[in-house]
Amino acid sequence: MVKICCLGAGYVGGPTMAVIALKCPKIEVVVVDISTARISAWNSDQLPIYEPGLDEVVKECRGRNLFFSTDLEKHISEADIIFVSVNTPTKTCGLGAGKAADLTYWESAARMIADVSKSDKIVVEKSTVPVKTAEAIEKILTHNSKGINYQILSNPEFLAEGTAIQDLFNPDRVLIGGRETPEGRNAVQALKQVYANWVPEDRILTTNLWSAELSKLAANAFLAQRISSVNAISALCEATGADVAEVAYAVGKDTRIGPKFLNASVGFGGSCFQKDILNLVYICDCNGLPEVSEYWKQVVKINDYQKSRFVNRVVSSMFNTVAGKKIAVLGFAFKKDTGDTRETPAIDVCKGLLGDKAKVSIYDPQVTEDQIGRDLAMNKFDWDHPIHLQPMSPTAANKQVTVTWDAYEATKEAHGVCILTEWDEFKKLDYKKIYDGMQKPAFVFDGRNVVDAGKLREIGFIVYSIGKPLDQWLKDMPAVA
Ligand code: NAD
Ligand code: UDX
Repeated sequence: MVKICCLGAGYVGGPTMAVIALKCPKIEVVVVDISTARISAWNSDQLPIYEPGLDEVVKECRGRNLFFSTDLEKHISEADIIFVSVNTPTKTCGLGAGKAADLTYWESAARMIADVSKSDKIVVEKSTVPVKTAEAIEKILTHNSKGINYQILSNPEFLAEGTAIQDLFNPDRVLIGGRETPEGRNAVQALKQVYANWVPEDRILTTNLWSAELSKLAANAFLAQRISSVNAISALCEATGADVAEVAYAVGKDTRIGPKFLNASVGFGGSCFQKDILNLVYICDCNGLPEVSEYWKQVVKINDYQKSRFVNRVVSSMFNTVAGKKIAVLGFAFKKDTGDTRETPAIDVCKGLLGDKAKVSIYDPQVTEDQIGRDLAMNKFDWDHPIHLQPMSPTAANKQVTVTWDAYEATKEAHGVCILTEWDEFKKLDYKKIYDGMQKPAFVFDGRNVVDAGKLREIGFIVYSIGKPLDQWLKDMPAVA
């Protein structure tokens, strides 16, 4: 029986290994992590991450051929294939701070593999890493020269949160990069056989190591670039009376462009896009390509602009001050169907409103008060260590913030409502009831274009929707970017 061990039981390691175990009953899969809390949660009824369909997959395989453990040494030494799916955050200090990937976690994983291995291993980069990382990993793995043969593969993960299970069941492609040597090709074949249990062969792409590593950064940069492109156009739409949804539809009808990933928003969030683009920017700088670096940096700059533009719109609409005013925030997760808040635009929007002395009342169906407290207290880029932090109540951290489990409670007596995540339930709220409970004039700032602005205007709201023609009120009170 082939044995797989995965280091890192996070958003990628957990779901990916659960699906491998489900689709390959003859393979034993053990997911290990240095966080005992995370492993306990994976072994409980309350999984550590919310992801539609994940519970069912885990329930079917856990205890059969899927295991979660903190015994790293045992499972690493027994495995044939070791996936490394640890976090690779942005460096917060030292050389490359604010751009370069922090490979501390990866390096300690590689050192652990080198120290405890007694037989040949295939080591798979599942984490997103800078191009050429495999070279460094190889050096670490072979440093204590025990005569063990290691084959490093790059097998980046393309799943998106909220749709992870369907993405893993039916991936657009699986990418495997390896050394172009007989041993390297054998290792690629071994991993290909795992995926071939459910992925059609023509969707399993094999490349050299550096192409696979770079493709992951490039794919995320391209995706994020589309959002920054449509968000840049959204600003022009507001200035001219064009409607960004109509423009995006017309543009996306061109089969060369395609309709996906053109939804204007308050900005992209999530643990990957910003981090991976900054990583790409740093790599370009290091390779003496300042023009290329500047090009990609602009994608992040437009994203920051979009978030601050949103805050400015809220403040300017309310007579240029939100001091002491209650503002309801509906949605804190970075997208719907996840409880993940890493790099969520809600953090920057809330911080912007708090900076203008608003009282912010937050509701998200999947995000806890502790999590929101940590996020609002955290420095930029520190978010990739949240599981190691102590819980913190937002009220302890900041008297201006409250968190509720009810949208109506959050909006009661508020001056404005900011919709920051596109949860389906926000489309179905009783906006008449919300309007009746609010201060007047009552505002809705829809950062995800989820509500029917026409209906809300009929109720009496002043409505701002990203990239849509502006109400007269908003035209009279222009936002200064
Ligand atoms: P995560 O923070 O949810 O999980 C990482 C886990 O690794 C944590 O539980 C941490 O405790 C553990 N860990 C750290 N060092 C370890 C070690 N030495 N040994 C064992 N465990 C260790 O991160 P994630 O979202 O799963 O992302 C993991 C990687 O996958 C990152 O490189 C990320 O860029 C990439 N990725 C993420 C996504 C996504 O949607 N989240 C998608 C594709 C790729
Ligand atoms: C992304 C990539 O899609 C995935 O392939 C990669 O493996 C990890 O990073 P993820 O961050 O989980 O996945 O979610 P994604 O659906 O890409 O959304 C990222 C952000 O962009 C979210 O905040 C989302 O709301 C925003 N977004 C997405 C838009 O603002 N407009 C869009 O049209 C699409």
